[in-house]
Amino acid sequence: MDLKEYVLKGFFYPASEIYNSIAGFYDYGYLGTLLKNNFINEWKNYFLRLHPNFWEVDPAIVMPKEVFIASGHLENFNDPIVECKNGHRFRADHLIEEKLNIKAEGLSLSEMEELLKNVRCPICNAPLGKVKWFNLMFPIYIGPDSQEALNLLKNLKENVSEQYIKDIIERVKKMVENEAYLRPETAQGPYVMFKREFILHRQKLPLGLAVVGKAFRNEISPRQLLLRLREFTQAELQIFFDPEDNEFDINEVKDVELNFLDKEGNYKRIKVKDLPFPEFYAYFVGKVKQFYERLGIPEERLRFRELSEKEKAFYNKYHVDIEINFPTYGWKEVGGIHYRTDHDLSGHMKVSGKDLTVQKDNKKFIPHVLELSFGVDRNVLALIDLFLTEEEYEIERDNQKVKEKRVVLKIPKHLAPIKVAVFPLLKKPELIEKAKEVYNMLKNYFYPIIYDEQGSIGRRYRRVDEIGVPYAITIDYQTLEDNTVTIRDRDTMKQVRVKIEDLPNQLTLSSS
Ligand code: GAP
Repeated sequence: MDLKEYVLKGFFYPASEIYNSIAGFYDYGYLGTLLKNNFINEWKNYFLRLHPNFWEVDPAIVMPKEVFIASGHLENFNDPIVECKNGHRFRADHLIEEKLNIKAEGLSLSEMEELLKNVRCPICNAPLGKVKWFNLMFPIYIGPDSQEALNLLKNLKENVSEQYIKDIIERVKKMVENEAYLRPETAQGPYVMFKREFILHRQKLPLGLAVVGKAFRNEISPRQLLLRLREFTQAELQIFFDPEDNEFDINEVKDVELNFLDKEGNYKRIKVKDLPFPEFYAYFVGKVKQFYERLGIPEERLRFRELSEKEKAFYNKYHVDIEINFPTYGWKEVGGIHYRTDHDLSGHMKVSGKDLTVQKDNKKFIPHVLELSFGVDRNVLALIDLFLTEEEYEIERDNQKVKEKRVVLKIPKHLAPIKVAVFPLLKKPELIEKAKEVYNMLKNYFYPIIYDEQGSIGRRYRRVDEIGVPYAITIDYQTLEDNTVTIRDRDTMKQVRVKIEDLPNQLTLSSS
């Protein structure tokens, strides 16, 4: 089944759809919200428990301009953009990859311009112009000046007085003085709050500060459903540590195996202890691998890719991307393991003028940061794409074997958006009454569960298969006699009969 069509069944839709939407924004529907929250809960339960001094925080989304001067985002967080004479704009690197089949990550503006010399605009076939940098951050203007400046600009007519122009300039100046930005990554929050949290946690390192929240990027060409959005959710953990003395014990994960693509492009199956990184870094690669094992991502669909000097994010010393092979889109980055050194804290110390060093014994230093960064939306999309299945099965009808097709989301049971469905076999009052009784009992144990009495039982099974409900409980006439019901397993379609009172123990939904 087509992924684009499937997700409309309750996972996500273009945002503000009734007004034709803006590209790069999506609304999560009821199933998508449940799935996204399940991913986030798995993530928090796993990463926050890696160390007793790892904590979740919730910093503000709007941050002053100085934050991004210090972090380097104002200078470096750019994408290359190219425009034709008719105003059609594209990511230059994407055009190079799509039209010329050349990897464009890390190329300079002039290298890209040279490559695009003979490429025409994909929309109007006009030649393309210069390649320029385009900053991805969304500015936001605090206070009334921006509105006043814009009102003056909107009412601008020919022959306005000199004073009018002066007023505009004054207002625009004031507007820009109050310029802030929507954060392009959650990471900067923990950096600016580091010192306060460090003191609150009795000045102990390592200190981990995790944020799950929205980030915003003014992407030039949002595309591929949730893969490239303008508003998205990140789950990021910033680990502040002493680079000369960290306590992460690689022995815990030394024999964990993973698929590794090194920076020269060589593919290896490798053990964590053999990775070409310092131990503290390899340790977290191993821990991330184990997280994806818990999510049930098939081994062959997960790889760790080391980025080359040219490809690495500007703040990283070591940079490994976590990539998943999407059935629909191929290999895509869903997260990254970033050794940001003291890049950010040093920058904030310089620009804010505040002392962000820490004192340990006789040593004063700026802590280093290891960042584990995940795009929640991309991971959610991966889970849907990987586990969405279409299959044929045989049933007996009128003493004959016939083949039928079904769509089933075979997502691991602990991640399923809806856990259990309860059905009366037929829409008869005595069955409905009993089914509601079972529903009311089960909802105390599992959340969320659904009740459905509409349509044939076969169609109801098909419907819950499609949205990945692991178990369907059916109440039939035998139930009224002996208090037993059938449990139908989503993946095997096998049914077993159990006593109602045993249901909570029979339905297994944990990850192990
Ligand atoms: N704090 C580090 C950081 O933001 P990044 O590689 O720019 O690093 C981290 O982003 C993750 O966020 C990516 O691996 C991806 O999963 C997700 N992400 C980035 N840009 C995105 C976008 N435009 N739409 C959806 N997810 C995005």
